[in-house]
Amino acid sequence: MTTYSPATDPGAFADVLLGEPMWDYQLAFARSSARFRVVAAGRQVGKSRTLAKVSLFEASTRAGILILVVSAGEEAAKRLLADCVALASRSELLRGSIIDDGKSLLTLSNGSTIRSVPASIRQIRGWPVDLLIIDEAGFIDNEIWDAALPAIISRPGSRVVVASSPWGSSEHWYRQLWARGMDAPNENYESWQWSSYNSPLADKALLDELKASRTAEWFAREVMGEFTEDSGAFFGQAELMDAVADYELCAPEDLEWWSDRRYAAAGGVDWGYAHDANALTLVSVLEDYGLNRGLLGNKLVLFIPWFEYKYRWAYTDFIERVVETGKRYYLPVVASEVNGVGQYPTTMLGDKFAEARLFPAVAPVVTDIRRKQSGFGMIKGLLQSKRLVLPRDPELLKQLRGLEFEQLPGGSMRISVPDRVGHDDVAMSFMQAVSALRLDGAVRPHEVFGNAVPVPVDLETVMTKNGLTIPVHARPVAFHRDAFSYPKGSESGEGW
Ligand SMILES: Nc1ncnc2c1ncn2[C@@H]1O[C@H](COP(=O)(O)OP(=O)(O)OP(=O)(O)O)[C@@H](O)[C@H]1O
Ligand SMILES: [Mg+2]
Repeated sequence: MTTYSPATDPGAFADVLLGEPMWDYQLAFARSSARFRVVAAGRQVGKSRTLAKVSLFEASTRAGILILVVSAGEEAAKRLLADCVALASRSELLRGSIIDDGKSLLTLSNGSTIRSVPASIRQIRGWPVDLLIIDEAGFIDNEIWDAALPAIISRPGSRVVVASSPWGSSEHWYRQLWARGMDAPNENYESWQWSSYNSPLADKALLDELKASRTAEWFAREVMGEFTEDSGAFFGQAELMDAVADYELCAPEDLEWWSDRRYAAAGGVDWGYAHDANALTLVSVLEDYGLNRGLLGNKLVLFIPWFEYKYRWAYTDFIERVVETGKRYYLPVVASEVNGVGQYPTTMLGDKFAEARLFPAVAPVVTDIRRKQSGFGMIKGLLQSKRLVLPRDPELLKQLRGLEFEQLPGGSMRISVPDRVGHDDVAMSFMQAVSALRLDGAVRPHEVFGNAVPVPVDLETVMTKNGLTIPVHARPVAFHRDAFSYPKGSESGEGW
């Protein structure tokens, strides 16, 4: 029997120093010496966790190296570093270490550094990286990969470790890299495919239920970790990715203190069942300083300034959070689902908004097929007319792509979301928020009076593939309330 030492083997390191052994399939990946290692996997198999362990192993066993961890989205980047810190704090590893730079940088006492950043060219270009680690790589654009690669390749002994849910067309770098290591593994390229069934923690009965209730494509992708085409999906992958931009989400507590409630947004809430999360999504009108006028005229772009979802949170805690959000953003309407488990929390949410003197706000809505049809149909229309920007968030994007449709005789399509099987909480809360939009009100108000807001000097912007320009520090148009109304299909109000 071979004995492994934590100083040279990631498996022994995880076992002895982190106190959480890797599972067999994770070990095979962590121990491979290929220069490019690539995993495509279903949900919840421990992709992010394994990347955190590999980062810690490399950082603590080699002195003075730089590890760059790239995630799709800011939240994910912070979470991954927090995971590293939590794992390392079980041992002596953090003794003498420094966590810095807005919690994106962990420097160990041996001088090695783990820098965890969201994917964007300005974050990635130019670092002399010894180990590049990428999570949810399928959501990261080719341009970013092209920008990161030269610095890696030129560095002797450098390595690249990549994991993702299967995502990306056959032209996408991640898919190509993965295929290369699958088709002809060698000392340079090695790839793996993990299914959600692999995890010892998997709820196998639930996975079987998903197999029975969802389409074969959905199951192959989300559970088996296989690349699939768009057939049967209500939103195509390219349709979604063309609307994605690397802007920063704005948490309620990040709003400048002086700006309290100047930013109006429609809120949508979805209440979770056992396997779902409670989710809140805000949709608002983007302040683009007229930068998209060439594309859209006086119509304004819609975007998601903020969304969040919480697993295993009591309704009361989540309600508290929504109320807090309503104290920072101005929410003329929060569409909250009353069917299923939603009746009680919706009533309570209404009471809490009234208590906090936030009026008018909570609109109880019944989610039926017509409502989904109309809400998701509107999202599709907005995507097609290039009026919607989405954040680069794998969860949101996967959930949207997970919506399926049925082709009706006569050619139209009907959205069909199997009720309450698989995660759709974020997509549903987004749909609820969108149903409270009034598009004819989403125009530049100043334009009427001819005094547009000037473009600030030093404004940093990013672009979507479909050509929209978005400030990185994205904010809604101030005091713009004409784009919101009582949602269609609500219990009271105008109805259909
Ligand atoms: N070797 C391990 N031992 C114990 N728990 C583990 C191990 N690997 C992963 N886990 C746990 O499994 C769960 C899923 O892990 P993780 O979030 O890393 O998976 P993921 O594949 O990145 O999931 P997602 O598809 O949501 O991105 C977490 O609760 C994590 O702590
Ligand atoms: Mg993950």
